[in-house]
This record gives sequence, C-alpha cells and structure tokens, in this order.
Amino acid sequence: MCSILAIESSCDETSASVISNSKILANVVASQQVHEQWGGVVPELASRAHQQNIIPVVHKALQEANITKKELDAVAFTRGPGLLGALLVGSSFAKSFALGLGVPLIDVNHMQAHILAHFIDDPKPPFPFLCLTVSGGHTQIVRVNDFLDMEIIGETQDDAVGEAFDKTAKLLGLPYPGGPLVDQWAQKGNPQAFPFPLSEMQGLNYSFSGIKTAVLYFLQDKQKSDPDFAEKNMADICASLQYTLVEMLLQKLRKAARETDIKHIAIAGGVSANSGLRKGLREEAEKRGWQVYIPAFEYCTDNAAMIAMAAHYKYQAGEFCPQDVSPMPRMKF
Ligand code: KG4
Ligand code: ZN
Repeated sequence: MCSILAIESSCDETSASVISNSKILANVVASQQVHEQWGGVVPELASRAHQQNIIPVVHKALQEANITKKELDAVAFTRGPGLLGALLVGSSFAKSFALGLGVPLIDVNHMQAHILAHFIDDPKPPFPFLCLTVSGGHTQIVRVNDFLDMEIIGETQDDAVGEAFDKTAKLLGLPYPGGPLVDQWAQKGNPQAFPFPLSEMQGLNYSFSGIKTAVLYFLQDKQKSDPDFAEKNMADICASLQYTLVEMLLQKLRKAARETDIKHIAIAGGVSANSGLRKGLREEAEKRGWQVYIPAFEYCTDNAAMIAMAAHYKYQAGEFCPQDVSPMPRMKF
C-alpha cells in the first residue's frame, strides 16, 4: 500500500488529494472567489487565499480519505507552470510536511498532470495518444508516449484559448471567468451569424490573440449605430465566437492526427469542459474513426487528484526531488 498526499496551488484553486496505490481517495478543491470583482486572477490575492486555504483543505482531504498523516508515504506538489507566489505556498507547505513526516517529496508538472487525469477513471487511453491541453494559461497538442514521456508537438504562440474566451467575454460585458458563460450563451445562438476570421499559423501551432482584436473592432463598429448591440445579440455573438475558437482547435488537431497517424485523441484542461469542443470532437471521432477521451468535469479544471495521479507514476519510477527544489513558473516537460 502506497499513499501520497498531493497539493495543487498553481493558480486560483487550492486543492489537496490523497491517492492510495492508483485510487483517488479524496479530492478537495477550494476555489477562490476573490478574483471575480477584478475581472481576472490577481496574483497577490491568489497567494494570500492559498495561504488561508491550504491547512483546512489538507485536513479535509486526509479526513475524507480516512487516513492519518503517519500513513503517508510521500508528499507531492505542483512545481509549475503557474504563478510564482501561488506555487510558493503549495511547495513550501509540501516541503515542510514531507520533512516533518520524514517521507520523500515529489514535484509535479501541472500540464503533465492535466494529461494524466485521464488515468483516474476508465476508459484510459492507450499509448501513444494525442492530448489537446486547453486551459486559461496553455494551449498545447502533446504526443503522449508513456506516463512520464510526453512531447509538445504544437502550442500557442501568444494567448491561450481559455484566455481568448475570457478576454472576449470581458469585451461583451460578461464577468470573469467568461469561458463558461460564453458556452452557456452559445447554446442558444446561431454559430454562423457572425463569421470571425480563423488564424493562419504555420504547422501545428496556434494563435488566439487575433480573435480578441477582431471581436473588439466588430463590436466597436456595430455599437456605432446600436449601443445595445452586444446585449441584443449575445447568443449569436457567443455562438459564432465559440464556433471559431473550436474550429481553430480542431483544425490543428486534425492535422496532428494525420501527421502522427494516431487515432486515440484526448482533451484536458479547463476548456475541455466546453460543450462546443466536446461536441466537435465527438463529430470528428465519428467521421475519422478516432477514439476520443474526455475526462470527468471535476478533473478538467484545476484539481489535486491529477497531481496525485502524476505523483503515483513518479513514485513508481523512483522520481523524487530534493528539499531545495524551487517552483518554476515557466516549467516545461
Ligand atoms: O485548467 P483551468 O481550470 O485553469 C488553468 O490552468 O488555466 O482552466 C481555466 C480556463 C478559464 O479560461 C475558463 O474560462 C475556461 O478554462 N473554461 C471554459 C469553460 N469552462 C472553463 N471555457 C470555455 N467553455 C467552458 N465551458
Ligand atoms: Zn490547469
């Protein structure tokens, strides 16, 4: 029996999870509401909220898992990528906890963990598979060769797709985070109502900064003759915007599947909760004979269960880290 406590604190979710062998026993997530009024995550406020949340969240996770501190075999934490001040809270806590208990420490890459969330529940993708990782900070196509062997084959050169959702939502007057609200409105609108341009990046890379500018100019133009244009056409604008962003994601994914000849396709990260992306992916699967893997909603957005899953594989591989390890805000694979 091997039990690991895992901590996630890279952005605005403070989370703790306990994994025993390969089974998740607890996954407690405290979401920070404090950022809503500022229209985005404020790093300083995130660090303070992590500081307040971390002990209660860990206590709750241990309680739910029905396990005592002394039964833990290792402590894992998110080393990066993420906000430095936020990562420092989780890493300092994990280091002290591991030191106090006399157990090894495991550092986890947050993006790798998003992908390994697919191994929490069934069906689990076979290797190799492609994973489209889409969040507020990242947009990547990853070739996953094994649990700890992954290669980024395409990624955004500017904004992440979640950022594109959130920033355009802000232009439409929707509160932060706007992604889920655009999704809700989109379901009531016509995706062909307003054609927005698709970006033309080379290879498997993405660019999402252009769509924000396109929506800004589009709204400025329409609002000249009708100041209430956005409110009156919210559903159609959101449906058109979502259609464009999803189509951009799928175009490169189709290209990646073709070039690598891989038909097992997974999605991960906060934006994989998007209904348009899920639907688009299922349609592609039908058309192209893909097998698609979409994690349960609770494992799409930031959570410590995925950190625990990654830690489980690192523990098995004997990959531990020293006590003097530092967080890496721009950590790569
Ligand atoms: O992975 P995540 O929870 O945190 C990061 O690591 O960034 O992703 C958060 C992002 C936000 O940009 C949020 O707006 C977006 O995921 N998001 C969505 C949906 N649910 C969350 N975007 C579009 N449609 C959704 N249903
Ligand atoms: Zn994330």
